[in-house]
Amino acid sequence: MRRLPPVLLEDGCPRELISLIRTVLAACKEISFRVGQGALSGVLGSTLDENIQGETQKKLDVLTNQLLKDILLESGYVKAIASEEEDFTVAGNPDANYIVAFDPLDGSSNTDINSLVGTIFSIMAAPEGAVPADPSIFMQPGKNQVAAGYVLYGPSTVLALTTGKGTRFFTLDKTHGTFLLTQDFATVPEETSEFAINASNQRHWQPAMQNYINDLIAGDTGPRGRNFNMRWIAAMVGDVHRVLCRGGIFTYPTDTKDPNKPNKLRLLYEANPMAMLIEQAGGIASTGTERIMDIQPDAIHQRVAVILGSKNEVETCLSYHK
Ligand code: AHG
Ligand code: MN
Ligand code: MN
Repeated sequence: MRRLPPVLLEDGCPRELISLIRTVLAACKEISFRVGQGALSGVLGSTLDENIQGETQKKLDVLTNQLLKDILLESGYVKAIASEEEDFTVAGNPDANYIVAFDPLDGSSNTDINSLVGTIFSIMAAPEGAVPADPSIFMQPGKNQVAAGYVLYGPSTVLALTTGKGTRFFTLDKTHGTFLLTQDFATVPEETSEFAINASNQRHWQPAMQNYINDLIAGDTGPRGRNFNMRWIAAMVGDVHRVLCRGGIFTYPTDTKDPNKPNKLRLLYEANPMAMLIEQAGGIASTGTERIMDIQPDAIHQRVAVILGSKNEVETCLSYHK
């Protein structure tokens, strides 16, 4: 099985970008180990702190953020970083050419139940002449990403990675500490009969999503004329991985549950990287009204509605939004 660096070199990926991806993965290998230790290393449970988004931080949120931050900044390969667990962007090496946005631990409500969690990352080039401390260097649409990926810490540790030449899976060989290519080109099937949504929010959705999900649930007695299955992992990384493996539609739509927070998922380090992975595998990623990767961000922790997955099913869902 082939290792990550030669695969990316053959794609014509710049050496500096490969080194940066390997740096992110060095942190993820350690996170994989720490998450796997679970209760043995005292990393479960919450801290007494909240992040800038008002979410209680799990001990693992803090630990994984620190690991990624330290390793990335020490490497010299990043001009700046943005993280779910950092209030502001953090300046790095002024001479570096790339910036990284990351969700150090996605699905952190799953940590204490030994369920799926992962790390999501998005890499862009820093604008020419940009200053590391200037947060506006992150205000670029997702279509500018030069690489995006996640590492899923499941029964095996799997990396999904794209550098704009398809989406590939690598599996961590924990004996040797190397990510080995295990699927060259992941393709999201165009058709699906599986959807993922937190249905407990149903009464708070907008009418378009209410109508769409009602029609799925009506199954062969409704307008769709066939039955649909539902899955919800409560970690986008787990749900998107299933969609990449066997198709499906995943959505976290706009809702009115909390008027101050109409959307849940963050554009820079959740929606954008997942959108690139899904599009590179032949799927679609939209907010309901626009392509996710076309959005011009205006804040580091900006949130967006997300509808992504199998092409035909996402298009059907979008037709309810017209
Ligand atoms: P995080 O743990 O990084 O804050 O992200 C959790 C996100 C996402 O991964 C998941 O799809 C969603 O929150 C789950 O939301 P519910 O708690 O509403 O199910
Ligand atoms: Mn997350
Ligand atoms: Mn997180």
